[in-house]
Amino acid sequence: MNVTILGTGYVGLTTGVCLAFLGHKVTCADPVAEKIAMLEGGAVPFHEPFLADLLAEARCNLKFTTEYAHAIPGAQVIFIAVGTPPGQNGSPDLKYLQAAARGIGEHMDATFTVVVNKSTVPIGSGNWVGALVRDAFEKRNGRKPHTSFAVASNPEFLREGSALHDSLYPDRVVIGADEEQTAEVLYTLYRPILDQTFQPPPFLPRPEELGAVPLISTDLASAELIKYAANAFLALKISYINEIGLLSEKVGADIAQVAKGIGLDARIGTRFLQAGIGWGGSCFGKDTAALVATAAEYGLEMPIVQSARDVNRRQRERVIEKLLGELRILKGRTIGLLGLAFKPHTDDLREAPAIDIARKLIERGARVKAHDPVAMDRFRRDHPELCDVACCDSPEQVIRDCDAVVLVTEWPQYRELDWEPLAKSMRTAVMLDGRLALDRSRLSRAGFRYLGLAC
Ligand code: UGA
Repeated sequence: MNVTILGTGYVGLTTGVCLAFLGHKVTCADPVAEKIAMLEGGAVPFHEPFLADLLAEARCNLKFTTEYAHAIPGAQVIFIAVGTPPGQNGSPDLKYLQAAARGIGEHMDATFTVVVNKSTVPIGSGNWVGALVRDAFEKRNGRKPHTSFAVASNPEFLREGSALHDSLYPDRVVIGADEEQTAEVLYTLYRPILDQTFQPPPFLPRPEELGAVPLISTDLASAELIKYAANAFLALKISYINEIGLLSEKVGADIAQVAKGIGLDARIGTRFLQAGIGWGGSCFGKDTAALVATAAEYGLEMPIVQSARDVNRRQRERVIEKLLGELRILKGRTIGLLGLAFKPHTDDLREAPAIDIARKLIERGARVKAHDPVAMDRFRRDHPELCDVACCDSPEQVIRDCDAVVLVTEWPQYRELDWEPLAKSMRTAVMLDGRLALDRSRLSRAGFRYLGLAC
């Protein structure tokens, strides 16, 4: 099929590359010329494992352009995957979505086109996008578009850092459309994923236990709500284990064991019960805020979702409290941060706990050193206000001469450091394991005073 993707961020580019890999003819459009130039040269503008490899495999089915006029005519499916950054009062800013919908209306031809909302958009956006496309078409052509397009919602559940795996081997595909004909187009598009009939790329083997992928075919509003409700549930699962972690610390329990003991109940599940600093990233914070804001528009409160947000904010404060409890005074101390990205395997710093923690430490007069395997350049570029943070080339350099080190992002390479000489290189060998990812007894043996966020 002929597919166009508007927006080449994590969601748009991953979707485009995967669909091209499956044999569809895909055009990716983005107004940022530097991004398009990079993509044409085979480079990916952000860190996402294997994305450049799959792009190379699918190159013959991919085109890149800055021009809607080149991307939209003839497309059978157009995915809107533009950014919806946080706006005011918890609602997302929809200016890019609006521009995309208008652009589609202006450039659409007689081909029957399914316009798909792939970005996380407020409930009701399907209708709004439809109206914008129709108005723009009418303005340009002086007549109504009749049946030449329909709107669908196809929420995305990929995680940064495992975006390709999540896209090729998803837990489910959700399609929201008000007419059967619209949904049919998307079943055809996703058929190789639903039936798992494609030959997996060598670097992304199919999970052995994976069978056919379940399809949820529903109306527009339900598909839109599924996205928010899923993210909010994952967010509150994390906040729940962090709240239990607080109590666990008081009563002397081991939160990792508690999480395992809870999670092995199949009704609960073990995933997203990793206690620690809490969630960051561009999704959970924004989507929980949007859910609360949408509910408020209907006169509803969402106390559970709101509490999950409050608990998450408190976890970051707890890093500072723990350091204060140990060191008493932060002024003049040197604190090392291991990891800046909001999670491992990405260079994304949006809502990253490390940014908040660095800011709080600097406000209290501490000196901050930091390392991240892939996010250092982005950090220097996107956070000039934190220019006082000393960026180090290695974790060893961060740790040397520190009064305490905080593990903020659980990159696998931080687990395997040579701890004994590192403990000796510190002023006071204090390790605050913000992700409960390190081997406590190994660190203690190496001479560290080990602190966990929930122990
Ligand atoms: C999240 C969802 O998991 C995806 O399904 C969704 O598609 C995406 O948002 C989105 O809406 O675009 P993402 O934000 O990329 O994906 O990353 P996650 O793996 O969900 O992690 C989010 C945060 O939660 C990270 O900061 C991570 O460190 C934290 N986390 C995760 C925990 O603190 N504990 C856990 O047990 C799991």
